Amino acid sequence: MRHKHSDYMQWSKTQSRAQFNLATSGVASFPLRELPVDLKELEINGDDSYGYAPLQQAIATHHGVDPDCVVESAGTSMANHLAMAAILETGDEVLIEHPVYGPILDIAHYLEANVKRFRRREENGWAIDPAEVRSCVTPKTRLIVITNLHNPTSVLTPESVLREIGDIARSIGALVLVDEVYLDAVYENTPRTSFHLGPEFVVTSSLTKIYGVSGLRCGWILAQPDLAWKMRRLNDLYSATPVHPGELLSVAAFQHLDLLRENARWIVDADRKLLRDFLKKQPSLTAVSTEWGTTSFPRLSSDHGRNADAFLECLRSQFDTSAVPGRFFEMPDHFRIGMGVKTEMFAEGLNRISCAISQRR
Ligand SMILES: Cc1ncc(COP(=O)(O)O)c(C=O)c1O
Repeated sequence: MRHKHSDYMQWSKTQSRAQFNLATSGVASFPLRELPVDLKELEINGDDSYGYAPLQQAIATHHGVDPDCVVESAGTSMANHLAMAAILETGDEVLIEHPVYGPILDIAHYLEANVKRFRRREENGWAIDPAEVRSCVTPKTRLIVITNLHNPTSVLTPESVLREIGDIARSIGALVLVDEVYLDAVYENTPRTSFHLGPEFVVTSSLTKIYGVSGLRCGWILAQPDLAWKMRRLNDLYSATPVHPGELLSVAAFQHLDLLRENARWIVDADRKLLRDFLKKQPSLTAVSTEWGTTSFPRLSSDHGRNADAFLECLRSQFDTSAVPGRFFEMPDHFRIGMGVKTEMFAEGLNRISCAISQRR
């Protein structure tokens, strides 16, 4: 039977809630009342059959690309789906990083692609090793998929490595899909999109994670114009036209992007500092430390068993604190915690993780 669901999404929608919610990946909500926008200007319908021109332009300007390369989508979720579905045929080989954000794998399985994996190794700081990628591609590989920043670890892949991945893809006639939804969490010297590295790069992103406006579902794909057109045609089968008030508010968000980004930056920074101090004092947990990003992926020491699920269940039921089980990233002895929502909540969540660990000793 064809794969038609995401266990992670279901868990996230039904099992992740807690008073101290560290199962997040995006920053705090940006309140509509603080967005400088005249709500009387909102309209319900508009001229947006294959994208609303002012929004296409705003996305294109943000990335320094031609609007013909921009495909609007309902969040990065639909962006990833459209991108992979437009590129892959049934049985095509797709090479996906491990660990990976679960729904990316779900999409590949749904499309009945032939899924291959390459490892990012914890002992190597979760970095992408181009030699490993090279050893995993075959002449049949159509697509290589990575996230940058990496979800769950927030590790940044440098441009030099992305170029090497591009070279590998080009040598076998494949494309590289880079999910950059977390890239703008690099608050200083923010790297430009990898779309500029060559025609083999296809990029997905959105305003959902780092800008606090997930409810607008403003996502997009950057692709070469012919492929972009294929994706717009494919989207006709799904959402036909976008929600126009969402497009208008997204244009307003683009006009004040720095305001939105800075709004949560200090929370992310404060949370990261707390996390670093916490990990130094917590021998049962180890995590690769990153300079940027809204997620971290600690490993629970083997004294607590090789699976963090029981620990996380106890953390939620007895300490009202949640984190994402590593099994959703195929690494069950890890779990993911999210920064950037509310520092008091984050601090107390860490405190409760400590209590839960002490209780299990
Ligand atoms: C790597 C990655 N891609 C895509 C998504 C989906 O994002 P969106 O809310 O924009 O659909 C997420 C959400 O957690 C994610 O972590």
